[in-house]
Formats: sequence, structure tokens, C-alpha cells
Amino acid sequence: MTRALDLLVVGDVNPDIVVADPDPQPLFGQAERIVDTIRLTIGGSSTIAACAAARLGLRVALVGAVGDDALGRLTLDAVAARGVDVSGCRVVQGVPTGASVILAGAEDRAILTATGAIGELRASDVPEALVRRARHVHAGSFFLQPRLAAGLPGLFGAARSAGATTSLDPNFDPDGRWDAGLAAVLAETDVLLPNGGEALALAGVDDPVRAARVLAGRGGGSMTVAIKLGPDGAVGVRGEGDPVDVVAPAVDVVDAIGAGDAFDAGFLAAWLDERPLDACLRLAVACGALSTRALGGVDGQATRDEAEALAGPLAAR
Ligand SMILES: Nc1ncnc2c1ncn2[C@@H]1O[C@H](COP(=O)(O)OP(=O)(O)O)[C@@H](O)[C@H]1O
Ligand SMILES: [Mg+2]
Repeated sequence: MTRALDLLVVGDVNPDIVVADPDPQPLFGQAERIVDTIRLTIGGSSTIAACAAARLGLRVALVGAVGDDALGRLTLDAVAARGVDVSGCRVVQGVPTGASVILAGAEDRAILTATGAIGELRASDVPEALVRRARHVHAGSFFLQPRLAAGLPGLFGAARSAGATTSLDPNFDPDGRWDAGLAAVLAETDVLLPNGGEALALAGVDDPVRAARVLAGRGGGSMTVAIKLGPDGAVGVRGEGDPVDVVAPAVDVVDAIGAGDAFDAGFLAAWLDERPLDACLRLAVACGALSTRALGGVDGQATRDEAEALAGPLAAR
């Protein structure tokens, strides 16, 4: 069946305020510190992934929730300008647009998030017509969106019934419980895309390969799990198959905000081409690495040609 959309992304949409400095620690006691750079840009794991996929040439729609305010309008306009269809996004009255302040240092980063309208999104906000038009449905930031989480098994199940595949990037759980009904979602998920820390926390083990195996086992037999390991690349497992390990290319990192989301887009672009796991991981790792070229989540994102050129020679171990 031909479908008008490659990818429907459901999840968090918000601006990121990125504070970049070799040492971005704030000083309390009403002290003012001068830092290198403060930039307002597109944020939200799901939205950064949607923009990355559009940059790769996929036809992408985003469903998320913003408030009826300047930050919400600015963010949706910026996302639309990157070729993502935002007509299915919801404007929630009486709740501000969510926002993150990211303190991006030389080695590490800290994130302060007010979820605002992010937490208002429900699975029932996703237009059925969009689900029917999509080849794949991806959701991000599971633990920031309890209302969406509750309806996600139903949404993913409906997407699958309509012939689409599904993926989930859980992202971090600020509550530290790593549950929120995830098991029911995994039963309807084709691809799970956590980073290393998230995978270990979700699986309750201390090794990424074991985590991949444990999580794949929770996915109804054939789920693919791809775990992002920062400068160490990624490891993936499909169902009960052997683990595949892909080394990251050496890159000059400006900052790694959104690298995991660009990775998701690269993985899904190759997945939609029905490539084998090692090829999906190579395109994913290439997209993750290239996204670190610029400050913030979206400005370094790769074109398809750039990503394929870097992915081609990468080794799968
Ligand atoms: N320093 C780096 N060097 C090369 N590639 C990187 C680097 N940091 C991230 N990447 C790429 O981006 C992907 C995702 O980054 P990671 O930091 O693991 O995810 P997340 O953003 O979800 O925490 C990695 O798997 C890797 O391919
Ligand atoms: Mg992530």
C-alpha cells in the first residue's frame, strides 16, 4: 500500500534554551555569571527526531501539545520550517508551553524541564487519519507524558492493525521508577530506542548487551532493541538474535544534545528501507555523530547523503 507519510511522530514539543559554556554551573547567592552562549532552539526528543527524519528526506508529521503562547507558536513555526507537518499539533488553553533549560558543559549537561503542555498530550489527540496514512509511528519521552503513556498501547496497536510499524524512545525517567505501564507498550512496539543509562535502568542489569537481550524479551518475541552508547556507538538485538555492535566515528563534538534523537531518525530511515539490523545501526550512529556538529538539537542534523557517506564505511563488530 502506498502511504502519504513515512513517519508519524507523537510526543514532546518544546523550545530548548541552551546555555553553553565550558563550565555552565550557576552561582547562587544572587550572583551573575557571564557564559559563552545562550540560544533558543527546537527541543523535545520527539520533535528533534521528527526534524532529523525530515532532514533525511522522510515525509514526517508531528503530533504534540503546546500552550497558547509565544513559545508554542515560535516552536511550531520553526518545526514547520524544517518540513515537518505540524497541523495535527494541539494548542492547549490555560497551560504554558513546556520548556527546557539545558546547561551544556564541556563534558556533561544538566537539564531543567517544566513539562507544561507536554504532559497534556493524550493518545486520543492523535488524528486517526494520520495514523492510517503513516508507514511508521514513533513516540518519544514516554515518562514525561503520563496521559499519552496510558493510551500508547492502544495507539500503537491501532497503528499496527493499520499496517504500520512502531517505535519508542523512552528517554529519561525523572521519577526514577522506570515503569509507567511500559510493559503494555512494549508488547505493541517493533523498535525500542533507549540510551545506555536508560536501558540499564529499564532492564535492571549492568551491561548493555544483557540489557538489550532482557528488553527484547519483553517485546513479544521479535522486538528490535537499539541501545545508544554515546561515543561508543550502539548495540542492537533483534528478538533472540545475536547482538550487533557498531562503533561511532570520531567527530569533533560541539554538543551532543539531540544526538539520540537523530540516531532514532537514522535508524528508522533505514528500517523503513527494510535494511538489516547492522545497516540500521550504522545509519543511526552516523546521524547521531553528525548531529553533534552544532549547538542544540537540530542545527547539525545530517542530510541523507551526508549520513549514508559516513555510515557506509562504519564497521559492525
Ligand atoms: N561523542 C560522540 N562521538 C561520536 N558519536 C556520538 C557522540 N555522542 C553521541 N554520538 C552518537 O549519537 C548517538 C546517540 O547519542 P547518546 O548520547 O548515546 O544518546 P542520547 O542523546 O539519547 O543520550 C550515539 O549512539 C552515537 O552514534
Ligand atoms: Mg535520548
